[in-house]
Amino acid sequence: MCGIMGYIGRKDGYPMVIDGLKKLEYRGYDSAGVAIMNGTLSLYKKQGKVNQLEQYIHNQKTNGNIALGHTRWATHGVPNDSNAHPHTSESGRIVMVHNGIIENYGALKSFLVTKGFTFQSDTDSEVLVQYIEWYQITYKLTLKEAVRRALGDVDGSYAIVVLDSLNPDSVIVAKQDNPLVLGIGVDEIYIASDASPISTYTQEVIYLQDGDCAQLFDDGTYTIFDLENNTVEPSITTVKCSNDNYSLEEYDSYMLKEIFQQPESVKACISPRIDLDNYEIVIPEIDNHKRIFANANKITIIGCGTSWHAGLIGEYLIESLADTCVEVEYASEFRYRSPIIRENDIVIAISQSGETADTLAALKLANEKGAFTYSLVNTEGSTIARHSDAVSYLSVGIEIGVASTKAFTAQVSLLTMIALKIARIKGTMETKEYKSIVSQLSELPTLIKKTLETNSMMHEVASCHYEKDHAMFLGRGANFPVALEGALKLKEISYIHAEGYPAAEMKHGPIALIDEKMPVFVVATNTSALSKMISNVQEIKSRKGQVIVLKEEGQDFPEEIADHIISIPQTHEVLSPILSSIPLQLYSYHAAKMRGCNVDQPRNLAKSVTVE
Ligand code: G6P
Repeated sequence: MCGIMGYIGRKDGYPMVIDGLKKLEYRGYDSAGVAIMNGTLSLYKKQGKVNQLEQYIHNQKTNGNIALGHTRWATHGVPNDSNAHPHTSESGRIVMVHNGIIENYGALKSFLVTKGFTFQSDTDSEVLVQYIEWYQITYKLTLKEAVRRALGDVDGSYAIVVLDSLNPDSVIVAKQDNPLVLGIGVDEIYIASDASPISTYTQEVIYLQDGDCAQLFDDGTYTIFDLENNTVEPSITTVKCSNDNYSLEEYDSYMLKEIFQQPESVKACISPRIDLDNYEIVIPEIDNHKRIFANANKITIIGCGTSWHAGLIGEYLIESLADTCVEVEYASEFRYRSPIIRENDIVIAISQSGETADTLAALKLANEKGAFTYSLVNTEGSTIARHSDAVSYLSVGIEIGVASTKAFTAQVSLLTMIALKIARIKGTMETKEYKSIVSQLSELPTLIKKTLETNSMMHEVASCHYEKDHAMFLGRGANFPVALEGALKLKEISYIHAEGYPAAEMKHGPIALIDEKMPVFVVATNTSALSKMISNVQEIKSRKGQVIVLKEEGQDFPEEIADHIISIPQTHEVLSPILSSIPLQLYSYHAAKMRGCNVDQPRNLAKSVTVE
């Protein structure tokens, strides 16, 4: 799972490639490398992040009109210099970057060993470039033919860019189950894992389809063909020029910036969709398919990580407001059982990046089974968006911190609007209640701003507990997924072991973990569950747990049973998960900083996991 950026044309490709790799670091950042062709091949690769590679290359020769770059998230082989891409063939003549997994690499490698090939890395990718060379030498093939023939023997997924350094007038690219985009410029072609790094230079792009290969020439011409060598007609799409803001402004990290952007990001998501004059929720993707949403037997929500947590909150909202049966599935599991999807079912895929491989695979299965597929994604033009029957964009701007924050609150806001919209279509809500929620929804940006005032309090709570190795998060109803999300955030960026539980479930096991060293975060902002939550807090206190309670202003809570009480603005109960998640984001941020962790790029993670 990795990011690819390449250039072939008349200019020096390196500056564009290194810039593109920085934008693709969401796909992995444990090592990076570039190959540059200028008469001879220069190859630089390094364990670590793209800026470490950039420093390493500083003052070295970087001019050349073909450049292939790669940023890696290790699958086969530890993150180190030799496992970093690009990989070269036995003779050093062929060079390749790869995103994906060659599943039958073991068999191919054993075969190549019998033919005298030796290996410099532990990767599956090196096996493929060597195999391409074996074909080239054995059958005296052009690179194009060797790639095509080699890929015919491969099981697995790939997006590759391959260069024959003895014939450096073209590169060969190919794609199967991993994205690859071509940017068509004037006398030049860009290649990348998504359109964002390309759109600065050209807005004309081709999203290669599974099974597509292409030969890209240094004069900007190209041909697309399939593995059987049939010509494929290109389909050119015009994308918007990216105006993503990569500046940290006054913040020390993207995560903190994105947490503090939430008043504006939620506003950007909800404002265009609320017509307050008529109390209407405006979601054309639903309006255009009213009958499907009105008659749906079941809605299945799929997603991974934080997006899955947003889906769980969506389940509470859609079931309670719109009286529609909802199931929430881990996208990775959905595919590997026999999910029952019938006519009149809707599958909603939630993904910030729109590139998560498990979610994409589950979405494709839902399409095959005939469901109406609807995706909620942030990245415009992403693969998941392009494979859905309808798509609503979060519109929160680029999210760079690996731990999702502003995308999560936008996902939940959008799901709230979807629940209200379906409820309106089906007539499942009292008008008074409906109008009250719509009106409070429009207040969310202001309430989020007030909620962010808990920052100093969360800093103080973190200073009490950041050295503890465990934490527990409890909630009931729609605050249970908030507890799960609080625990995930803390794990992801501070490496503290954390568990999220439904508060009532605590007594069936997790209570055994509670002692004076266990901070327990109790999300008690939903008034309907308050008395029960108070009992749960008593149970924790009786066992000497350290209790941090999150409640709403004005809620009556016995202060003496909590070690810290954090009050957030009062709002309608269906909207409270959006607010209650914010102090937990702040807590994770402060705890991680105090532990000296890199909050934007935590170890072992990637922003978007593009392998299954
Ligand atoms: C990775 C990230 C998570 C994210 C998940 C789903 O695991 O580290 O923060 O929630 O992928 O990503 P998506 O882009 O599909 O929402």
